[in-house]
Amino acid sequence: MPCPALPDGFDFTDPDILRDRVPFPEFARLRQSEPVRWIAQRPGIAGFDDAGYWAVTRHADVKYVSTHPELFSSALNTAIIRFNESIGRDRIDAQKMIMLNMDPPEHTRVRQIVQRGFTPRAVRSLEGALRDRARRITESALASAAADGSFDFVTQVAVELPLQAIAELIGVEQEDRAKIFDWSNKMAAYDDPEYAITEEAGAEAAMEIVSYAMNLAAARKECPAEDIVSRLVAAEDEGNLSSDEFGFFVILLAVAGNETTRNAITHGMHAFLTHPGQWELYRRERPATTAEEIVRWATPVVSFQRTATEDTSIGDARIRQGDRVGIFYSSANHDPEIFDRPDAFDITRDPNPHLGFGGGGPHFCLGKSLAVLEIDLIFHALADAMPGLRLTGDPRRLRSAWLNGVKELQVSVG
Ligand code: HEM
Repeated sequence: MPCPALPDGFDFTDPDILRDRVPFPEFARLRQSEPVRWIAQRPGIAGFDDAGYWAVTRHADVKYVSTHPELFSSALNTAIIRFNESIGRDRIDAQKMIMLNMDPPEHTRVRQIVQRGFTPRAVRSLEGALRDRARRITESALASAAADGSFDFVTQVAVELPLQAIAELIGVEQEDRAKIFDWSNKMAAYDDPEYAITEEAGAEAAMEIVSYAMNLAAARKECPAEDIVSRLVAAEDEGNLSSDEFGFFVILLAVAGNETTRNAITHGMHAFLTHPGQWELYRRERPATTAEEIVRWATPVVSFQRTATEDTSIGDARIRQGDRVGIFYSSANHDPEIFDRPDAFDITRDPNPHLGFGGGGPHFCLGKSLAVLEIDLIFHALADAMPGLRLTGDPRRLRSAWLNGVKELQVSVG
């Protein structure tokens, strides 16, 4: 008898699976035998409906769905980030205010405005400040290591730079940063019982960020400065964001740019420590291809979802209007049709057409250059300051329905 592609009741969005591991063997079986497969969803998972979804596992199909927003909508029932409406202000449907949950042409308008803040020049302008931060982060981790022998790489190293990068980007004052960092962490953590944060507390933290950002926007409108916020909100018309829109954009940054980059950095470190030859190569040559391979390897965002706008098909699968479609970046990034030795961590991999930043459609990651810069800066600083890092325990994984997360990674300095 052939092996069944999946055990009965297997659900890729079950957070208890992602707490233990990324389901690579199951993805591999589906890519081979049923690359677009209907999955009945395990009931009661926070942030998701109980309906089922199509699991799309091949690289080519993930790209196809991502690049056809007219067939596969982001605006219909695609919540990854969900808010409890009772907490939302004045019945605003918070979810719809976030560009990740918009379709063209509305999405196109917002995207054209916000990408002014992410031009290569805008990202380069952050480099000096972020390089200094990366150095300071490694110095303080070294001090912890000297005092305690080992330290937690996640809290001591990986958490700080992504938060600082967003704060630099939108010009958050130093004295407000701790507050913003605390809200961002709360917002992302409610899936994991260890953090004891309820969905309501997460939503409240989100609303705190929105109102902080709206106040920032109002202040810059009143008194413009030479910064990105001023450029995005200067005058409220078709060519700029309203204060509300800016508030919800910042919240997206706090989720999309924070946990993702943190986990890329942590998984990158873990990959180096379990592949010492690659760490040695990195220390010697610092290949420019490193950050992209780290993102492929880590694939911090396991999947996003779309909803079919009409009856259609993906390969042999017949999709009905209204069906939900899960696009599994983690699976696409290990597709042997595209990647030579997909399960090898190879920092010289080139070309590397991974889908860790999305499948190339209109929602392709806006912060990709910033993320790559952050990953480059932190590993440069680590290779300079702590060439002899060693692993002193297994990573402790995050319970999440969509994030390949690590919450603790104990290391010591040689
Ligand atoms: C969208 C991954 C870092 C801002 C996305 C998407 C993915 C992704 C998979 C969805 C793409 C799609 O649906 O086609 C990542 C990863 C990161 C990272 C793996 C780090 C390694 C960042 C950073 C920022 C950022 C640093 C900004 C500070 C955004 C925004 C969107 C987005 C605003 C929504 C774009 C839209 O809807 O048009 N990201 N991201 N991301 N990302 Fe990132």
